[in-house]
Amino acid sequence: MRWMGFTAAAAAFFVLGAVATSGTARADGDATAGQVIFKKCALCHSPDTGVNKIGPSLHGIVGRHSASIANFNYSPAMKAFDKTWDAAQLDTYLTDPKSVVPGTKMIFPGLKEEKDRQDVIAYLSTLK
Ligand code: HEC
Repeated sequence: MRWMGFTAAAAAFFVLGAVATSGTARADGDATAGQVIFKKCALCHSPDTGVNKIGPSLHGIVGRHSASIANFNYSPAMKAFDKTWDAAQLDTYLTDPKSVVPGTKMIFPGLKEEKDRQDVIAYLSTLK
């Protein structure tokens, strides 16, 4: 009956392989790739708590309310925006900042590739 053991091992190998493959095929972003994309943001944004540059600190941004860093001077447009930065809201905003928040002083053309946005949002979720 040794062949049965072999079949079970082969089946287990097959299942594990399938799980690993579907894992990489998921749509969720890749935080490591996102950290590289964040270089485009880092000119203006720090990932550290309490460090504002041209833009506010992005520490804890995922789940944070818009315009909620007390010592950052937001534009009237961003103050009026009044939304929570969840992944979906960030995705919309980062596609084209100035059309989502007309009058924002974030001078950034946006990330046109969905994968870039998903990756950078995955990285932003690690900043907590
Ligand atoms: C040229 C500078 C600049 C770049 C580059 C930039 N930002 Fe900004 N960002 C700003 C400024 C300034 C604000 C404040 C906007 C306002 O008050 O209208 C802002 C605001 C934001 C906010 C809202 C923060 C809050 O507290 O409500 C998010 C989220 C954000 N930026 C994410 C990003 C990400 C992610 C990138 C890179 C993909 C990026 N920004 C690139 C300057 C920049």
